[in-house]
Amino acid sequence: MSAPGVLLLIALLATAALATARPVSEEDQRLQLQRQDPSYGDRQAQGQGQRAGGGVQSVTINGSPVGPSGQPTAAERPAPTASIYELGVLRAIKDSIPNWNEAASNNGYSGWDDAVPCRGWTGVHCDRAGNIVELIIVCTQPPCFTGSLTPTYANLSHLTKLDLYTSNLSGPLPEGWAQPGVFSALAFLRLSFNNASGPLPAAWGSPGAFPKLRSLFLNNNNLIGELPPQWGRPGAFPSLELLFLGDNNFIGSLPGAWGTSGAFPHLSLLSVISNCLTGSLPPEWGADEAFPQLQDLILMDNRINGPLPSGWGSSGAWKNLTGLLVAFNEISGSLPPEWGGPGAFPALGDLYLHRNRLTGSLPQTWGQPGALPNLRWLSAFDNQLSGSLPSSWGGPSPLVLPNLRNLFLSNNNFSGSLPVDWGRPNAFPQLRNLDLSVNSALVGPLPDNWGLSSAFPSLQQLRLHNCSLRGELPGSWGGPGALDSLSLLTLQGNQLSGPIPATWAQRAAFGNPELVVVVRPGNEGLCGSSPEGVTLVSADNSTGPGVTGGAASATDGFGAVPLLLAAGDMPQGLLRTFAAGAGGSGSGSGSGSGSVSRGPGISSGSSAGQGGPGGSTGGQQSSYRGGSSGGSGSSNRGGGSSSSGNNLNTVQLPNCS
Ligand SMILES: *[C@@H]1O[C@H](CO)[C@@H](O)[C@H](O)[C@H]1NC(C)=O
Ligand SMILES: *[C@@H]1O[C@H](CO)[C@@H](O)[C@H](O)[C@H]1NC(C)=O
Ligand SMILES: *[C@@H]1O[C@H](CO)[C@@H](O)[C@H](O)[C@H]1NC(C)=O
Ligand SMILES: *[C@@H]1O[C@H](CO)[C@@H](O)[C@H](O)[C@H]1NC(C)=O
Ligand SMILES: *[C@@H]1O[C@H](CO)[C@@H](O)[C@H](O)[C@H]1NC(C)=O
Ligand SMILES: *[C@@H]1O[C@H](CO)[C@@H](O)[C@H](O)[C@H]1NC(C)=O
Ligand SMILES: *[C@@H]1O[C@H](CO)[C@@H](O)[C@H](O)[C@H]1NC(C)=O
Repeated sequence: MSAPGVLLLIALLATAALATARPVSEEDQRLQLQRQDPSYGDRQAQGQGQRAGGGVQSVTINGSPVGPSGQPTAAERPAPTASIYELGVLRAIKDSIPNWNEAASNNGYSGWDDAVPCRGWTGVHCDRAGNIVELIIVCTQPPCFTGSLTPTYANLSHLTKLDLYTSNLSGPLPEGWAQPGVFSALAFLRLSFNNASGPLPAAWGSPGAFPKLRSLFLNNNNLIGELPPQWGRPGAFPSLELLFLGDNNFIGSLPGAWGTSGAFPHLSLLSVISNCLTGSLPPEWGADEAFPQLQDLILMDNRINGPLPSGWGSSGAWKNLTGLLVAFNEISGSLPPEWGGPGAFPALGDLYLHRNRLTGSLPQTWGQPGALPNLRWLSAFDNQLSGSLPSSWGGPSPLVLPNLRNLFLSNNNFSGSLPVDWGRPNAFPQLRNLDLSVNSALVGPLPDNWGLSSAFPSLQQLRLHNCSLRGELPGSWGGPGALDSLSLLTLQGNQLSGPIPATWAQRAAFGNPELVVVVRPGNEGLCGSSPEGVTLVSADNSTGPGVTGGAASATDGFGAVPLLLAAGDMPQGLLRTFAAGAGGSGSGSGSGSGSVSRGPGISSGSSAGQGGPGGSTGGQQSSYRGGSSGGSGSSNRGGGSSSSGNNLNTVQLPNCS
């Protein structure tokens, strides 16, 4: 995984850790309860036993009754009784974990020496007939369960859920698990944060292998090889909804065959984040019948190259896609005009294109009324996009990109002036963050009309630093109703001049938030005192967390995308990823406070700033490779020095002569 990738991911994870601090799914609730109270599993199992009432006294072997178990405790306290066969399987599983005793006592696992798994074995749940339907061996406290992923698990043929999350199991994924019939009821299989090695077995994609499987978590292991095209056979995964493959060492291309109609009819989320995939995005995946239910496609942080397939914009494809996250790759070519065509990406909310090798201009078509109607987040920073910013995106009617909240275009090669049309009334009714910084060919003045009442009513942060802007600060930007929500304006690294307009003091009078304006370095011609409600600062020395709780590196002037990731702004796909405990960049190789900070998008400071909470969470988790918030490994790296106070240098400008 690339170091810059890690920085963003760490920041994302930090936010995600906060965002998922509360239980978000039944699974997570269980995990959290288990953490708080290690006996939870016991009670859960007992509860089931009690509900089973009169109890199943007979013991069965492969479904045949063989008489009473002979355990007095079982007779006194009726509970479903597992078959001797399944008892034997559980014991074999326990025996495959040489450090069971130590890991078990650390993690609140008890009962496993007793002979009645359905009553009191932590992590074992039975149905009323005494079949073992859930096996949950999770580690929250190292040392973790260490052993191999044996074929034996598949002998528990009634399992609906097998959760070996955050354990320490190694070895290849057993091919035998895919024999037709052995896991015919399995709906949930989680092997995240283990040490599984070898390739994905092609056999796991045999039709009939996992007919009921809805969630498959293989992320954060040491899996290698190519993604098997065989998994794209029609009928391979007829029920699968969630497929997490991130943070492994997969190579090769995304298999076009996975787009075969009928292969993944119910897939809702596919994540292959942080692997070593190459090749281009398969045009086949954009066929009408490919991935009919897919909502989140997360391919960030690989080495995917080639163009964005224009055919993906054909109407009929990607009907349900809400998140397309392909940032941190090597994708080249231009933004396809077709993606703004009628019916293209009707549900798309989050489009992550940043840090690729994209060229060309922003397509006019993306600003047609009705184009990308649900787009909330467009990030294309750190590319080589060029040309002028299209006026069409600003109107003429509010039907253009009506839901856009975040637009990140920093560190490209845009030229021309800031489009006056973007200041049309209600052109961007929802826009909170606009980052046009580090486009050295953006010239001209700050448009007067961007300060008109009802222009940018929601804009909180406007980043314009390191461009070639000239002229005076518009008085209109401080008038009644002007940029009411703005709290950060970065202007450093331009050639702006003249006084800070006295009208800007009206902001305070209207009850608007305090406005922090980064004016230095650069802008040598600016002068005068700062109006009430406006704080002028320099980016030079601002090394600590900044005004927004994030931070600025010494040079980028708060130009940090991660600090914008308020929980509510997290792309849904990532939220789901974290909520599901599938985490992002587990093995984190991030270098914390940002020696690798390159662009404006990913600032060191912000990683540190927001890495704080996540860092410490991740820290605890990383010792056992993950936790319920999907914590990034890397622990004490993303985190670090976050929590120091504001460290801004306020600036005195010279008097205007
Ligand atoms: C699991 O099933 C295989 C094949 O049926 C059998 O050979 C093996 O003995 C079983 N293991 C246990 C522990 O029952
Ligand atoms: C995982 O197992 C390895 C040995 O295979 C051991 O060195 C390591 O400490 C274990 N990790 C945890 C968290 O238990
Ligand atoms: C992972 O498994 C390999 C063998 O497959 C072993 O060499 C390595 O030590 C294991 N790593 C951990 C952290 O357990
Ligand atoms: C997917 O899109 C179709 C057609 O727009 C819609 O009927 C269906 O409900 C959507 N599914 C989900 C899970 O949103
Ligand atoms: C930026 O755009 C200009 C034309 O506007 C072009 O001459 C220059 O080569 C571009 N630079 C890069 C790095 O793409
Ligand atoms: C940073 O701050 C120190 C004093 O705290 C000052 O001496 C120094 O000149 C500042 N550096 C810049 C580049 O403004
Ligand atoms: C902005 O410009 C300053 C001065 O030229 C430079 O030191 C800094 O690295 C630039 N920041 C970014 C993010 O490019």
